[in-house]
Parts: sequence; structure tokens; C-alpha cells
Amino acid sequence: MTLTVDTPAAASGAAILRRQRVRESAARTYARSFPIVPVRAGGMTVEGADGRRYLDCLSGAGTLALGHNHPVVLEAIRRTLDSGAPLHLLDLATAEKDDFTTTLLGSLPAAVADGSRVHFCGPAGTDAVEAALKLMQTATGRRGALAFTGAYHGMTAGALAVTGNVGVKSPLPSGGEVTRLPYPYAYRCPFGVGPQGAELSVAYVERLLDDPAGGVVPPAAMILEVVQGEGGVVPAPDGWLREMRRITAERGIPLIVDEVQTGVGRTGAMWAVEHSGIVPDAMVLSKAIGGSLPLAVVVYREEYDGWQPGAHTGTFRGNTLAMAAGAATLRYVAANGLAERAALLGAGMTARLGALKDRLPAVGDVRGRGLMLGLELVDPAAGPDSCGAHPADPALAARVRAACLQRGLIVELGGRHDAVLRLLPPLTITDEQVEAVLDRLADAIEASV
Ligand SMILES: Cc1ncc(COP(=O)(O)O)c(C=O)c1O
Repeated sequence: MTLTVDTPAAASGAAILRRQRVRESAARTYARSFPIVPVRAGGMTVEGADGRRYLDCLSGAGTLALGHNHPVVLEAIRRTLDSGAPLHLLDLATAEKDDFTTTLLGSLPAAVADGSRVHFCGPAGTDAVEAALKLMQTATGRRGALAFTGAYHGMTAGALAVTGNVGVKSPLPSGGEVTRLPYPYAYRCPFGVGPQGAELSVAYVERLLDDPAGGVVPPAAMILEVVQGEGGVVPAPDGWLREMRRITAERGIPLIVDEVQTGVGRTGAMWAVEHSGIVPDAMVLSKAIGGSLPLAVVVYREEYDGWQPGAHTGTFRGNTLAMAAGAATLRYVAANGLAERAALLGAGMTARLGALKDRLPAVGDVRGRGLMLGLELVDPAAGPDSCGAHPADPALAARVRAACLQRGLIVELGGRHDAVLRLLPPLTITDEQVEAVLDRLADAIEASV
């Protein structure tokens, strides 16, 4: 049999897409929303096989803090390749890992870094979530976890158990010992009251944990996101986060903060915990820390380090290139004040998107923090709920996503019913690109309503 497969460069985009449709699993996601074949990318721009260029507001689901193929990242990768360093090393010590760990710890708030330990995990956020949960189960001798409505923590068993999305959980037999708590989501308030829902959430969590008939056995940990990403770009108020820290500390419940998506400048601070000043017992980090290559770690207070050797192993814990690229990214973000720039740009974009909301009733809510922004699309013709929110309009959101793509803008959906347009541009986005993104987005929404 002769194998006649085009070389990657020669294959036509249409043929590649056709083959992908028939060969890859029905669980394909982004590939369905964006039927393009990227052949080149730099910064925020992606070029398809058909020669079309797109501004990428997805950034590898928030992974590409510096955009595609940033020179600093490429240089770190090339230097490592040229050095002859081993590329795959389980969890052995290397100069690259040492440099990454030093840079990572140096980037964290001192109160988090001092007296902490780092565990290198299999290279996905979900494995780091598993590790953090297991660590706290080992340390406390308890099993259950407290997790929030709207949470997203990954797709492996433990991470999925603490995830909120019923759609991806329901085929599995059991959600595990997870107590679901109300996350403060003012627009679709779990208590039906709006912004005051954050205070009710605090009262509910505290009273539930103290209620001897509340049905909650003492848990191994609470896990939360500072800004829920996949849940629909929902930022928690700083005061609520401080209350969660107080409540867990007073009851000896370790607090795990999942910064897989919010880390490395994304929310306008190097780490999202800095906004509220809380010091978690463990932080789960992945995505941007690998500088576009796979890397995931847990950073935790050393008093929880009760693991036996090999308690959480994994073959791919020693990706030398990811460590070099990640250290270069962390240094670049810090040296160039990109977190501060994300805060500034995010505030400006939020104001502009707010004006769009005032003009277009189909834009129900605009929210976010730094360069992690969301627009919730609604059906204004349908009656509002008790908080004044109209029902989500997923069909409109899908039309807007397609209209954005036609206008050269990659924007993905998230949140309840997939009705939230999510903007996750690289932190290196230029002022001109901000204008282009906002113009194309407004045009796409106006053309779709
Ligand atoms: C907050 C958060 N935690 C965990 C994960 C899971 O990471 P991964 O997809 O690398 O397993 C994600 C992925 O989007 C995430 O956003």
C-alpha cells in the first residue's frame, strides 16, 4: 500500500478540514466553531491556509499571555534546543527547572511564596487540580470538597466532580463528595436578588458549614476561581473572596485557588489573588505559565506537604522547553508591566463595551477583570427575571461568533447556555488592535441582532 499524504505545507485547507471532520472525535470543540486551518501566527494575528488573517481573542483559551510566537519565547526555546539540554526528564533536577521555579516563586506574592512547596504535575490544568485535591485529602484525612456553581476545573474525574457544568458531568455515574455552593454572579444571582447575592452567599456558606444537620461532613478543601472563566467570565468581589478565606481559615478547611486561567497578568495583577490580598493554602497554575507549551504546577503551604514519595506522579512532568518558555514569559510580563497594562486596557474596553450595551438591548451584561472580559447576550424580547436579566440567547451568541470570524476576529463563547462572548486577547495587544477588536465586535453584534 502506498501512503499518499500531503506534506503539511502542501495540503489544502479544505482537504485538511474535511479529513479532520471524518477522523477526529465528535467531542471536537473549537474546531467546530472555527473551521480554519492556521498556518502562521505572530502576536495576536493568525493566518489561515486560505490566506485570511484573524485577530485572535481566544489566545489558546487564555494560554498565550504574549500572543503567538513571541520573540522572547522563541528565543528561550531556541536557546534551550541549541544548548543540548535533555527535553524530557520526568521530575529530575535541571537548570531550566531551577530557573523556572525561582522565577515563578519570585513572581508570586511573598506571603504565598514564602514557606511554600511546588509540585510539578502532568502538563494540564486538570492534573494540577487533581493533585491539589489529593494533597489536601492526604493532609486532612478527609474526602469531600466544597466547590461553586459555574466552576470549571478540568475534565479528569476529581476535577470534573468539582466542575459545575452539568452537561459535561451528567454521563458519569457520580459527582463525588462535592458540596456545591453559590458563586456570586450578580447578573444571574443564585438567590435571585442581584449584587447583594454575594453577602447572602457568605451567610449561606458559613451557616451551612456550622449546621450540624446541614449534611456537610468536614471537607478536605474548598476550591474556587477568582474570576470564573469557562463559567462565563464572572469575577468574584474581593470582599467575598476575603470572607471565603476567613470562613475556611476559621474552620481549618484548606483553600485552593485555581489560577489556571487567571494567572500571569490576565486579570490586571500578576496573580488574581493579589486583588483581594487573600493567601490561599494552595494555588493551581497552568496555561500561561508554560509560555505556550504544556506545564502545570501546584504551589502550596509547606505544612500540607504530607505526601509520600510518588504520591502524585506523571510521565510528562519535566518538559524542559516549557520551563524555559514559561520562565521567559513570566519575566517578560513582570519586566514590561503587562499586568498593569492589562488592567488599564481592560478598564477602557469595559467602558467601551458598556456603551455598546447601552445602545444594544441584546447585550445584557458586560463584565470581567483586566483582559478577561465577557459580554452576555440575551433575548430582550423575553421578560426579565427578578434581577432584571433577560434569558440567555445562545443562538444569537453563535451568530455573533460566526459574524466575528467573517470579520477576521476569533472570539469564543462560554458561560451558561454558551451565551457569553469571551474576550481573552494577549496581554501584548496594541492600542490599534484594541480598536480593531471593538469595531469588529460591535459590527458583528449589530449585524446579528
Ligand atoms: C480555571 C481552570 N481550571 C482548570 C482548567 C483545566 O485545564 P486543562 O484544560 O489544561 O486541563 C481550566 C481550563 O480551561 C480552567 O480554566
